[in-house]
Amino acid sequence: MRGCDVALLGLIEVGLACSGRANSNTLPPELQVLGAPSQTLDVKFPLSSPPYAVNVQPGGTLQASDTVDAPEADVGPLSKHGSNLFVFMMVDPDINTTHPTYVGLHTMVANLTPYNENGAASHSSHPFTTVATYIAPEPPAGEFHDYTLLAFHQPPHFSIPAKYASYVATTPTSPLNRINFPLQQFIADTNLGPVVAANWFKEGSA
Ligand SMILES: *[C@@H]1O[C@H](CO)[C@@H](O)[C@H](O)[C@H]1NC(C)=O
Repeated sequence: MRGCDVALLGLIEVGLACSGRANSNTLPPELQVLGAPSQTLDVKFPLSSPPYAVNVQPGGTLQASDTVDAPEADVGPLSKHGSNLFVFMMVDPDINTTHPTYVGLHTMVANLTPYNENGAASHSSHPFTTVATYIAPEPPAGEFHDYTLLAFHQPPHFSIPAKYASYVATTPTSPLNRINFPLQQFIADTNLGPVVAANWFKEGSA
């Protein structure tokens, strides 16, 4: 079982992660620049058939069929830190191997609030704002990419500066406009502060 990192993986990923890639739980490259988050972000991808959702495990491997629909982040465990609103992103730091903070932007959501205690609330019932619509992973054949899920406290008056409008847009040529999104500069320009919680997975083919 060497290289399988079984302890970190949910049952669903066991077997998929045994491709011989070492260090599958290593922090993705952009987080090595931004700094390790103190908490793991609870994220799941909804599925249309049983088991109806797949939970992201740090460094785990997912299949394309797991990530068709937009990820859902549970920011409830983070809300004790103050702000009740969060900004959530999914990015690909492996599109630019020399500048890992120039990421591919797969989605950005603002005004995300904690789930209800009763568990009845679904992601769609929350008044979150989709800033950048979800684009599923499209790793080039023969490559595995990291996909990182990030949560930030949303600062007051958060908005998207005009110079980033082209990056968050959804256009007929998307995802080309989402490439080389300057994440670190965006964080500085919008006062997002440190990554509060993160999670990540790998997807691709050997
Ligand atoms: C990586 O990002 C840097 C900084 O924006 C850019 O100059 C370079 O062209 C990018 N590389 C690729 C392969 O896109």
